[in-house]
Amino acid sequence: TGYEHIILERRGRVGLITLNRPKALNALNDALMHEVVDAATGLDRDPEIGAIVLTGSERAFAAGADIREMAPQTYQDMYAADWFAGWNALTRLRTPLIAAVAGHALGGGCELAMMCDFILAADTAVFGQPEIRLGVIPGIGGSQRLTRAIGKAKAMEMVLTGRTMDAAEAERCGLVARVVPATRLLDEALATAATIAGMSAPVAMLAKEAVNAAFETTLAEGVHVERRLFHSTFALADQKEGMAAFLEKRAPRFENR
Ligand code: HXC
Repeated sequence: TGYEHIILERRGRVGLITLNRPKALNALNDALMHEVVDAATGLDRDPEIGAIVLTGSERAFAAGADIREMAPQTYQDMYAADWFAGWNALTRLRTPLIAAVAGHALGGGCELAMMCDFILAADTAVFGQPEIRLGVIPGIGGSQRLTRAIGKAKAMEMVLTGRTMDAAEAERCGLVARVVPATRLLDEALATAATIAGMSAPVAMLAKEAVNAAFETTLAEGVHVERRLFHSTFALADQKEGMAAFLEKRAPRFENR
C-alpha cells in the first residue's frame, strides 16, 4: 500500500488502520498524519467498507504528537503550516470510526482517540493531556473534546496538571465506551465494527450524523435535525427490509450501500 508509518488492512467490511511507529511509541508526525488521513478517507469512499477501526500497539495507541519533530519549530512555522489542521479530515468521515486503545494515549494520542466516534479501551490504557509539562497546550482538540466528554472538573485538572487516568477511571467518567482485557481488545473492536458494518450503511451514517449534531447545536435544533434524518430513513429500501424482517421474525438483509 506504500505506507511507511501505518498498516492498512481490510477484514471483510471492516477497515483496520494500525499505527506502526513502534520505536517512537507511535508518536504522530506529519507523515503519519497524512497516511492516516489518506487511508481513512480511502476507506470512507469504499462502499465495501462499513466501519473502520483505528488502533496502535500493545504498549501505545500513540504517545502524542512527535516531540522531536515539533521541538525546533517557530510560531511562524506552526502558523504557516496550520500545524495539526490536517487531522480535522477525520471528522468529515461518514463511516463509523472506532478507536481501539491499549497502553499510552497521551497528548495527540488521546486527542486522536477522541476524534473517533467512540473509544474501546484495553485495561492497560492510559489517557492524558500532558502538553503543559512540555510548555505547550493541547492542539488537536483535546481541551474541547475532553471537556465535552468528561466535564470541566476532570478535564481542567488533567489539562492543568498533566495527570493521566487509567482505563477504569476513563470508563467511569464516560471517556470510553467499554474496557476489555488487553488480549481481547482487537477482537472486540473488530467484532463491534463488524456489527456496525452489518447494518444499513446509509442508516449507520445518518445515526452518526444525528449523534454528532448533539455537539454542534441547541437541544431543540438537534431534536429537529434528528427527526428530519429519521424521516429520511423511510426513503431507503433498508427501512422496509428491517421492519419486514422484524415482523416476519427473521434476520434483516440490508443492502449495505
Ligand atoms: C517523540 C516519543 C514520544 C513523542 C515517546 N517517544 N513519546 N518521541 N514524540 N511524543 C519516544 C521516546 O523518545 C523514545 O525514543 C521512545 O519513544 C520510547 O519512549 P520512552 O520514553 O523510552 O518509553 P517509556 O519510558 O516507556 O515512557 C513512555 C511515555 C514517555 C510515558 C509515554 O515516552 C512519554 O512521556 N512520552 C511523551 C508523552 C507526551 O508528553 N505526549 C504529549 C506530546 S505533545 P528513544 O529514541 O529515546 O528510544 C502533544 C501535543 C499535541 O501530543 C498538541 C500540542 C503541541
